[in-house]
Order: sequence, then structure tokens, then C-alpha cells
Amino acid sequence: MIVLEQVSKTFDGGSAPAVDGVSLEVAEGETLVLLGSSGCGKTTTLKMINRLVEPSSGTITVDGLDIMRQDPIDLRRSIGYVFQGVGLMPHLSVARNVEIPLRLRGTPAKERRARAEALLRLVDLPPETYAEQYPDQISGGQRQRVGVARALATDPKYLLMDEPFGAVDALTRDRLQQELLDIKARIGKTIIFVTHDIFEALTLADRIAVMHRGRIEQIGAPDDILKRPATAFVRELFGKPARQLGLLEGGAS
Ligand SMILES: Nc1ncnc2c1ncn2[C@@H]1O[C@H](COP(=O)(O)OP(=O)(O)O)[C@@H](O)[C@H]1O
Ligand SMILES: [Mg+2]
Repeated sequence: MIVLEQVSKTFDGGSAPAVDGVSLEVAEGETLVLLGSSGCGKTTTLKMINRLVEPSSGTITVDGLDIMRQDPIDLRRSIGYVFQGVGLMPHLSVARNVEIPLRLRGTPAKERRARAEALLRLVDLPPETYAEQYPDQISGGQRQRVGVARALATDPKYLLMDEPFGAVDALTRDRLQQELLDIKARIGKTIIFVTHDIFEALTLADRIAVMHRGRIEQIGAPDDILKRPATAFVRELFGKPARQLGLLEGGAS
């Protein structure tokens, strides 16, 4: 379980806090989606969980342990991270990119390669075809799959995903979302998934945390938030999707 209690972050020179008193819990096996527009503090929240950014105040625990008392390297091994923009190494092949976390951990070469090949299969990139390709030889959607495979390399219990499907067309995004749901059904991870896309949030989330200006406006199951928005901001944000979903349901019956 990941627990944030009253976590805030003010960057040096920043006037308003980027993250302002965020409290939330992520249960085992759950997908929690952090939803909010650009600049509301999603990436900062995610980065504090594996100590890429240090909180200014508040506490974060992972499995009951305060992250500030843990070795950051050990912490990051137990938490897979898919960066916003993916960030593959352009001079390394697809397989070698996936192997990076295993290399850092000192896994022997043969074992590394076998694991990378299994992960590439899992994300629907058959290694026979893709292992030796380079990032600029594959499509955007394929690069994002490689990012997911890399985050899964050390078989972490937790997965933090920062707008992992942001830079692809809508059809590819739909496919990647379905693949993530499939992967999750097969290997059962606990996921915090960041997006600004309401439909993506509704598709993937067990619960959604709606963020606005560094704060959480509401946390709840998608259905709950659609039917019982807690603030004017949330009502406004979900108003149009709620009407569209209503129309779609009406059209299908
Ligand atoms: N390293 C940094 N230094 C200073 N300000 C930052 C830094 N990273 C983010 N910010 C600011 O913090 C706020 C939240 O940013 P971020 O967490 O990246 O938002 P989001 O991921 O929701 O778009 C923004 O105003 C951003 O400009
Ligand atoms: Mg961001």
C-alpha cells in the first residue's frame, strides 16, 4: 500500500506550492488515476513517491515504511516508473533499453536478455522482430510499449505511469489502454496512472483522484465521481463526458 499524508511541495523560487496538502491511499492491486490539467501537480506528486523529488512536508509510506528512511535506489527498484515522454536511450536497441533496470541491479547478461524477451512478448512486441530495432525505427505506440516493458523489468510491486500514452494517436491510445488492462489482469500490479484525459481515466481507473492547482478535489470510483461530483470544479470537468456517456448509453439501448 502507498499512503500520502498531507504531502506538499514548493519548488525553490516557486510562489504557490506545486502540490498542496495531498493525502491519498493506493490499495494493493488497485489502479488509481491522477487526473488533472497541465501544471496541476501530477508529475510532481508521482516523482515524490520514488524520491525523484523530495517533499517539502508531509509523509509518504510504501508498505508501511517512510520513504525518507529508505535507500532511494532500493525504493526505485520496488517501484517501476514510466516517464512522461518515455525517454528511451536512442543509442540502445529495444531489448537493451528494457534491460537497463536489470543491468543496474547486476542481473547476468543471459538472464537479462531472457527477461527482456519475455517482457517484449508481454507488451506485444515479438522479440524476433523488435529486440534489435532502435527507438527511432519503431512507431510512437511501440516506443510507449517499450517504456512499459522497461518499467516492469524488475517485476516491481508498484507501477507509476506518467501520461504513458500521451504522445500517440487516439486509436493507438485505445489499444494501449486495452493492453494495459490485459497486462494488469495477468500480472496484477498496483498502479498510479497520471493523465489529463478524462476518458482514459474512466477506462483505466478503479478510483480517480481529481487534481486542481496542487490539491485533490475529489477521490472516488469513476461512477461515483460522475454521479456525485463533490465540487463545482469536478462537476464542470465531468459534465460533458457524463452527458456524452449518457447519450451513448441511450443510443445503444
Ligand atoms: N523542477 C521544477 N522547478 C520549479 N517548478 C517546477 C518544477 N517542476 C514542476 N514545477 C512547477 O510545478 C507545477 C506542477 O508541475 P507538474 O507536477 O509537472 O504538473 P503536471 O504534471 O500536472 O503538468 C507547475 O507550475 C510547474 O511549473
Ligand atoms: Mg506532468
